[in-house]
Formats: sequence, C-alpha cells, structure tokens
Amino acid sequence: MKITVVGAGNVGATCADACARQELANEVVLVDIKEGLAEGKSLDMWETSPISLYDTRITGSTNDYSKTAGSDVVVITSGLPRKPGMSRDDLISTNAKIVKSVTENVIQHSPEAIVIVVSNPLDVMCYTAYLATGKKNKNKVIGMAGILDTARYRSFLALELNCSPKDIQAVLMGGHGDTMVPLPRYTTVSGIPVTELVAADKLDAIIERTKKGGGELVNLMGTSAWYAPGTAAAQMVEAIVRDQKRIFPCCAWLEGEYGLNDIYLGVPVKLGKEGIEEIIELDLTDDEKALVNDSAEHVREVMKVLDGMDLF
Ligand code: NAI
Ligand code: 2OP
Repeated sequence: MKITVVGAGNVGATCADACARQELANEVVLVDIKEGLAEGKSLDMWETSPISLYDTRITGSTNDYSKTAGSDVVVITSGLPRKPGMSRDDLISTNAKIVKSVTENVIQHSPEAIVIVVSNPLDVMCYTAYLATGKKNKNKVIGMAGILDTARYRSFLALELNCSPKDIQAVLMGGHGDTMVPLPRYTTVSGIPVTELVAADKLDAIIERTKKGGGELVNLMGTSAWYAPGTAAAQMVEAIVRDQKRIFPCCAWLEGEYGLNDIYLGVPVKLGKEGIEEIIELDLTDDEKALVNDSAEHVREVMKVLDGMDLF
C-alpha cells in the first residue's frame, strides 16, 4: 500500500504522521509546493520511527508527482487555511485552483487512487477534485468533514456527561460549515438516546458549539485546527486501506439520495477498499430534511462561485 498526502502544512503533516504511526501503508509520500518543507517534515517523522516503532517509510517531495506514482489513497490538504474573521467559503478563489492542479497531477500518476479531499471550502473542493478527475468515479473522490464535526460534537458531549468519548456515537449531515446538521435523534451513549441523558437546552448549546467548532479554534489560534482534522483524515485512510466497511459521515456526490442531485454533501456512508461502497439513507423527519436542504442550498451558492471561475 502507498499513501500520498499533498500539503505538508498543519493538517497534512498530522495526517501523514498518523498514517505512518498506524502502519497503514508500506510507504507514505508527503508533497508540498514549498521548497524543502515536505522533505524536512517527512525526515523528522521518519526519525521518530525507531522511537515509535513503526516500519512505514515516509518520504517527502517538492512538487515532484512522479514520487507519488502508484498511490492507493491520496489525501489533499493543500491550500490556504482560514484566518480569524474569514469563513471557509472565502478561501475558494485560491484553493479551487490549487485543488484542481493538485488533483490533475495526482491522477496522472495514480489513476486508480481514492482521493480524500480536506481543503476548504470542503464540499465545493470535493466537487472541484471530482471535476478534475473527469467525473470518472464518484465513489473515489470523498471529502473529510463529518468525522471531524462529529468528533467535536462527541467530545463536547463527553465533557457534559463526564463519560468516555469512546461511548458516544453520532450522525451529522450537510455541508462543512455553520449550516451542518448534527442529528440528536441519531446520537447515542452506548445505545442510550442522548436525549434521555442531556437536557434539551444543554444539547442545543452543544449543537451550536459544534457548528461553530472550527471558528472557535481559529479565534484561539489565529489559524484553523489540525490535530483532529489530520487524525480524522487518517481514519478514513484506515477504513479504505484495511477495507473496514466502517460507517462514517463523509462528503459524497449525491445522485438522488436524500432527494438531492449533483452536489457534494455530508451523508452517512460505508467506507471500504472501493471508497464509498454505500450511501446510507436515513428516514429523516420533515424538520431534519429542511435543515439538510438549507445546508445543500448554501453549498450550491458556493458551487456557483466555482462555476463562475471558469476553471473547467
Ligand atoms: P497550512 O497552511 O498549514 O498547510 C497548507 C499547505 O499547502 C502549505 O504547506 C502550502 O505550502 C501547501 N500548498 C499550497 N499550495 C500548494 C500546491 N499547489 N501544491 C502543494 N502544496 C501546496 O494549512 P492547514 O492548516 O494544513 O489547512 C489545509 C487546508 O485544510 C485548508 O484549506 C483548511 O481550511 C482545510 N481544513 C479543512 C478541514 C476539514 O474539516 N475539511 C479541517 C481543517 C483544515
Ligand atoms: C475546521 O473545521 C477550518 O474546516 C476547518 O476546523
């Protein structure tokens, strides 16, 4: 197995490190446009291998995609992160060009690779990557957001309940932004509905905090988060390379599911060696459907900005 991570910044380096530590592949290649950055970070990571006891060979490259040839999974994290006061959508003009060119380079050398997109604005960057692959296989271009957003939700619930985050399961749908839709009806604590354990006002506050969870960290750090995002992307890589058939909220291309067409949006999926092996359709209530539709409308507005850029 071979994994490429494009973008050796905060998220990409964290993801590559997690992939190597978990020995998800024989080889992890880190690529960045900034001279020496990927080589330096990958060498630093490789020097931890005798301490952390892993064999995965990790190497870096400055924009030489021939080094990525034959990758099974490629994670795209290249692009600008947001700064305080910016929304994820403000990044589109720069990041769309980056994601398009990176995807084209990656696919040229690894035509069968499963591509996991992390760059923001996430849903529309997935669409960009999918277009850049020539819309070849929708199940092989997948976005990472839902694992991160549910992890935030689950971690806040664990604090509220003073329980292990391991025991909290949740589903979240919609776009990766303030319109995301955490679903309390599908949130359990070791099988117990969360609504039986957390008062409605407290649950509402946790949902609001989750929706703004990315912004909370941008305001604290001056740039966006990386530990949880990089680890979440590595969890998707693991499900694919180990063919785990895990069910996660991921950003997927919809063709009629949930009554939505031709849009990337967060939905529950089964992840395995083919990428998205199934999109799971939940029986949403009218209120839940309305929230998901609102979120889809928001994503469509950003898709229009991409269409207006005439990149494709
Ligand atoms: P960063 O600035 O630390 O790293 C980005 C890296 O991309 C830099 O090293 C830069 O040199 C590189 N880069 C830029 N253009 C490139 C190109 N054409 N080819 C190769 N490398 C290139 O940013 P960070 O924090 O790692 O975030 C990366 C992206 O991920 C941002 O767009 C951010 O908004 C997004 N993000 C998405 C999340 C999600 O849940 N989907 C969560 C966290 C971040
Ligand atoms: C996050 O949610 C900025 O999308 C990034 O942390």
